[in-house]
Amino acid sequence: MVETGKFIESAVAEIRESVGDGHAIIALSGGVDSSVAATLAYKAIGEQLTPVYVDTGLMRKGETDQIRKTFTYMSSLEVVEAQEHFLDALAGVTDPEEKRQVIGEQFIREFETVAREVDADYLVQGTIYPDRIESEGNIKSHHNVGGLPEAVDFEGIVEPCRDLYKDEVRDVARALGLEDVVAERMPFPGPGLAVRVVGAVTEENVAVAREATAIVEEELEAYDPWQAFAAVLGRATGVKGDNRVHGYVVAVRSVESRDGMTARAQELDWETLQRIQSRITGSLPNVSRVVYDVTHKPPATIEYE
Ligand code: XMP
Repeated sequence: MVETGKFIESAVAEIRESVGDGHAIIALSGGVDSSVAATLAYKAIGEQLTPVYVDTGLMRKGETDQIRKTFTYMSSLEVVEAQEHFLDALAGVTDPEEKRQVIGEQFIREFETVAREVDADYLVQGTIYPDRIESEGNIKSHHNVGGLPEAVDFEGIVEPCRDLYKDEVRDVARALGLEDVVAERMPFPGPGLAVRVVGAVTEENVAVAREATAIVEEELEAYDPWQAFAAVLGRATGVKGDNRVHGYVVAVRSVESRDGMTARAQELDWETLQRIQSRITGSLPNVSRVVYDVTHKPPATIEYE
């Protein structure tokens, strides 16, 4: 376990030394890893840093507001409204790996534009130790900003958290004074809600995944899961009011894990499950069915795609 005070001191020094009087850029996702890296980088180089948040339209509910709130003090924060670009690029894409690729490429395009605008020489990334391991294992092509170094001609890449495990990043986040909503936040995949919709992504089914995930996160907070969310699996027949509807099937997933490499489906009580079902079907007219996923990893993965 690293000593957080010492870690912060040496990370700040390392960033300062690497960037010198150049300009750095970092992609924020709202997650703890990029938030910690951005906070460290801002401490080190202040306005020489441009933090960029690309709103892909595949993010969690209220993410843009949350990011603005967390980083109000950074006048250089750039928010890129790219929802339409991502939806257009994803139109008709059903293969999970192709989805990841399309999202990764679109992300690079958006990010590149900002990097050129601000004339960035350095890229700061929130990569942590398990990201490096998982990428080497290549179970799924993980997209953070993986393709960027080749796409943009950076002089250097700075990864201050590259040797930290998730629980250590959370310790550093608390020590840096990041709020609990950030420090304690569940992991969220780079491709966002697109991997929580099985098959083609549309504005409508992503909105269902987003709203249902917000309900699940809220209802299951007390269970302290590694991750809890909702995914859209397809459609099935149901009855709402007096009408038959061909509504969405929403899967609820809640897992315990130490590092995301393996996971156990959480045992939830019936009352909680029923409350989640009732809130989701009650607030989303186009959802006709809610199921609970009892599969561990392996054989399932945590996300659906
Ligand atoms: P899986 O679904 O592979 O997920 O069991 C393991 C952990 O990784 C997260 N995940 C991703 N994170 N880019 C990311 O940055 C991705 O493409 C990606 N796919 C999965 C997932 O949320 C879980 O915590």
